[in-house]
Amino acid sequence: MLFVCTGNICRSPTAEGMFRAMVERAGLVEAIDIDSCGTHGYHVGERPHPPSVFEAKRRGYDISQLRARPLLPGDYDMFDLMLACDAGHRRILESRAPVRARGRVRMLMDFAPDHGVRDIPDPWGGEETDYRLAADLIEAACEGLLAHVRREIGAAP
Ligand code: 4NP
Repeated sequence: MLFVCTGNICRSPTAEGMFRAMVERAGLVEAIDIDSCGTHGYHVGERPHPPSVFEAKRRGYDISQLRARPLLPGDYDMFDLMLACDAGHRRILESRAPVRARGRVRMLMDFAPDHGVRDIPDPWGGEETDYRLAADLIEAACEGLLAHVRREIGAAP
């Protein structure tokens, strides 16, 4: 499971931290590889942006120790699902994908269809409410994703 956004300092590390905590709680940590990256390398090596760390912490998730990294060619062989935070990420993921890996790219919000949005708006440089909205969408999508994974691996709900 690879979560992908632009800088890997706001949306995708939030998704990584939330999903890992949910997977740990579900006792499935051995079964699922979880990571995140950015389509662009602007922030490589940086911790998540402080408002994202704050918003995650408020909800009980610690993402403060994560470090940004770029999307790498080897990621296409490492992950069964590559989850784009918005349509721009999906385009980049698909354009760089070897033919064998094209079906692995999905929109993260596909796993929270009730929200009726495809893109998680970029909160970077925005207000606290922007970070809150992004975290709301990401948390819902991670819950949906966990339900999907449980079905895929035949784990009890
Ligand atoms: P993220 O937010 O993709 O959710 O990590 C962004 C962070 C940095 C930039 C864009 C989006 N940037 O252009 O540097």
